[in-house]
Amino acid sequence: MARPRLLQICQTTPRMDDALAAVFDVTPLPAEPAALLESDGAAFEAVLTDGHLGVPDVVAAALPNLKVVSSYGVGYDAIDADGLAARGVVVSHTPDVLNDEVAVTAILLWFAVSRRLVPADYWARSGKWERDGAFPLTRSVMGRRVGILGLGRIGQTIAERAQAFGAQISYHARSPKDVPFTYASDPVALARDADVLIVITPGGAGTQHLVNAEVLEALGPEGILINVARGSVVDETALVAALEAGKIGGAGLDVFEAEPRIPDALKTMENVVLAPHVGSATVETRQAMGDLACNNLLQFFEAGRVLTPVPECRALNEG
Ligand code: NAP
Ligand code: 8YV
Repeated sequence: MARPRLLQICQTTPRMDDALAAVFDVTPLPAEPAALLESDGAAFEAVLTDGHLGVPDVVAAALPNLKVVSSYGVGYDAIDADGLAARGVVVSHTPDVLNDEVAVTAILLWFAVSRRLVPADYWARSGKWERDGAFPLTRSVMGRRVGILGLGRIGQTIAERAQAFGAQISYHARSPKDVPFTYASDPVALARDADVLIVITPGGAGTQHLVNAEVLEALGPEGILINVARGSVVDETALVAALEAGKIGGAGLDVFEAEPRIPDALKTMENVVLAPHVGSATVETRQAMGDLACNNLLQFFEAGRVLTPVPECRALNEG
């Protein structure tokens, strides 16, 4: 029997390649896909992509027999899940397996900003220690008021981990949760009562610029902003302006509005720590994400269901 055809949009690991090759006839999407889509578009039943590349409309439209899309990541704002569900296509993602890694990244960025780890490293390796003496004192991370914007799977993990450092946790989400943390009615109220504001909502239209000039003003001149969600959630122009004017104390950023482009102004600021979207990027966590992304596809063709559908496709997945 012919093996199902899988269109591979995102990068994979050798382990993922082996798992997929055992079941699928895999074709990587070429840089110029028009000829392939025209000749073979109707043959593809499955797509593997990630949260950055999504499924471009031109690709989705050229795959009339598409049944399943597996995304290698939890955030799926780059995928039109409603549109695909309406076509009967099930979309899956990789929730939970990356909670700890992304929580660690958020805390790592917060600590690095607060303790000025990057300037301290420069002080040590540039000879400034010998020339100028001790590095200036920094601010402790202990016992801080930590505001978490988005208390879902990762947000709750951040809250649990931050408690080990004596943090007092407050949060804002669309609705209050049954948790022992203080609910703030909106992002401004959350920022006003926080020393550190950690952003971990999904991206997309519903959260566009949730963190704006008003929120940053409320965070205040000692406040630290951490964004491990999506660049779109923070108004980057307002962020640069707030940092330049000293309206907030610093920022730790893993995500940006126009990745991989980062505003030059941010690159020159000593109170800003930058990371190239590496929240989940460890060997261990990417392996777990890759396994789940592949297993979603394997289960769909074996049992008719993916393991972890996105919410928009839950009903469809249950048949
Ligand atoms: P999740 O479990 O769905 O949690 C999302 C949280 O955001 C929920 O508490 C939700 O509130 C809240 N939220 C949604 N829209 C909101 C709005 N308009 N205003 C306020 N709160 C809102 O998702 P997750 O698994 O924790 O992942 C969160 C996001 O992290 C992903 O979607 C992805 O974009 C990002 N991420 C980044 C990296 C990285 O490498 N930097 C890695 C993984 C994930 P309700 O519960 O009230 O609906
Ligand atoms: C990855 C992420 O950058 O899961 C997400 O939403 O942002 C990250 O884990 C990516 O999606 C992996 O391809």
